[in-house]
Order: sequence, then structure tokens, then C-alpha cells
Amino acid sequence: MDIKTIDINKFKRIVFFTGAGMSAESGVPTYRGEGGVWHEYNWREYACQDAWETDPEKVFDFHDLRREEALKCFPHKGHELITTVQEAHSDVVIVTQNIDGMHQRADSKNVVELHGSLWRVRCQNEGLIKDDLNHGPFEKRKCNCGAWLRPDIIWFSDMLNPDTVQQADAAVTQCDLFVSIGTSGVVWPAAGYPQLAKSSGALCVELNPQPSELAWLFDMVYKGKAGELLPQLFKL
Ligand code: APR
Repeated sequence: MDIKTIDINKFKRIVFFTGAGMSAESGVPTYRGEGGVWHEYNWREYACQDAWETDPEKVFDFHDLRREEALKCFPHKGHELITTVQEAHSDVVIVTQNIDGMHQRADSKNVVELHGSLWRVRCQNEGLIKDDLNHGPFEKRKCNCGAWLRPDIIWFSDMLNPDTVQQADAAVTQCDLFVSIGTSGVVWPAAGYPQLAKSSGALCVELNPQPSELAWLFDMVYKGKAGELLPQLFKL
């Protein structure tokens, strides 16, 4: 495929917008594609507030499995390339829908986690968010106050964290290069970011083996895998 290399020095602010496809080559399953998590599990039983209120143990078991799967996987060349771009440029933000922490494991900084993280818990009773970096299942399922903890993840029908949204909105509105990687573009409000970047004047590029629902609005659409396309798009 003919790929036009991007010179990062021509851009003041860069946003990488990533979805499950970014982690696919690391071995983390996507949600909706072949082998996608939501084909095997009904999110109504595992990934919404009602499910957690009905059966927190079952919801924790499901998320323990997600943690264990993520730990078996490692960042790939695409994650490393994004880190290299960050090291070479002063203003690069990663806005990710992923909860697996793979960007951070590739030493990337400025990661805005729109949908939360598998590596944090919340106590709704005390209003606290805490890291749980145990190398395996969640260390604790209950808070010291006695209440059930819940994974600090944005589940279906949850509101996004307003501070996180503010950070993402600011980055996307101000960027002049927006690179979307591995998202189907069907989950809102995240799916609104390509349009926001476009209407703010950014050059918008999509990398995906199958053009997303939003492919029509991108200036460039490259069909392929993140780990293969990213090093061709940015020659550093
Ligand atoms: N490189 C790039 N993209 C890929 C690759 C790859 N190697 N493999 C698959 N993809 C693409 C698929 O073509 C698809 O468009 O990644 C996308 C994955 O889509 P989804 O599974 O829908 O994941 P995502 O868009 O991140 O989902 C958004 O939905 O369930 C919620 O909260 C969950 O954050 C998630 C949100």
C-alpha cells in the first residue's frame, strides 16, 4: 500500500486516538470483531452497573480474567512507535478507549483513559479511586470501609469521568494531527472525537484493517494493522 509518511515537525499538537484494535496484535481480544469479547460474554451480565449491583463476584471474576489476559500480552511495535513519537515531539496526547494499560507498559505518557482502567478500583461509598496493580487478579474486592469495590471502568450506560472528558476534549480540539487507530467508532461519546478533530481543522488519519463507521470523515484511511502501518506512517 502507498503510504504518505507524516513529518511530525509539521504539526504542533498530535493526538493518537486508540481502540481495541491497537492492542489486537498484542493478543488482547477486541470487543466486536472475530473472537470479540462481546460475542462470548453478554455485557448486560458483566459490564454494567446493574450487573455489578446484582452479582459483584461474577463481575469481578470477568474482570480478573481480563487482567490475566492482558498480563499475558505485551506492547507491540505500534505502541513503541507512539512512544518514540512522544519522545521526539513536545505535545503528543494519547486518548484511548482501552482499559488494558498497554500504552503505559510501552512507556507512553499523557494517556487519557476514556473508559477507565483494569488497574484501578473505586469505592463508591467513600468516593475514592485507587490503583490495584497486583500482577494478577484484583488484590481486594471490598474496601476497608466494608463496601464492595468496583473496577474503575466505564461500563455500558455509565457517564464518563468529567475530568477525563475535559482532558480529552481539550486535546482533540487543539490538535492539528489526529490519528485514529483500531476503533470501530460505534461507542459514544468517544465516537464523536474524529468529527471534533475534523471540525477543529486537524488532519485526520485512520488506521484499521476494516474502515470504521467513521472512515468517510478522515482525510486519509489506511487499511491494515496498527503494528505494521504505524512504523511506515512515521519514519523516525
Ligand atoms: N490494527 C488496527 N485495527 C484493528 C486491528 C489491528 N491489528 N485488529 C482489529 N482492528 C480494528 C477492527 O477492525 C475494529 O474496527 O479494531 C476495531 C475494534 O473495534 P471494537 O472491538 O468495537 O473496539 P473499540 O472500538 O475499541 O470499542 C469501543 O466499546 O465495548 C466498549 O468500552 C468498550 O472501549 C470499548 C468500546
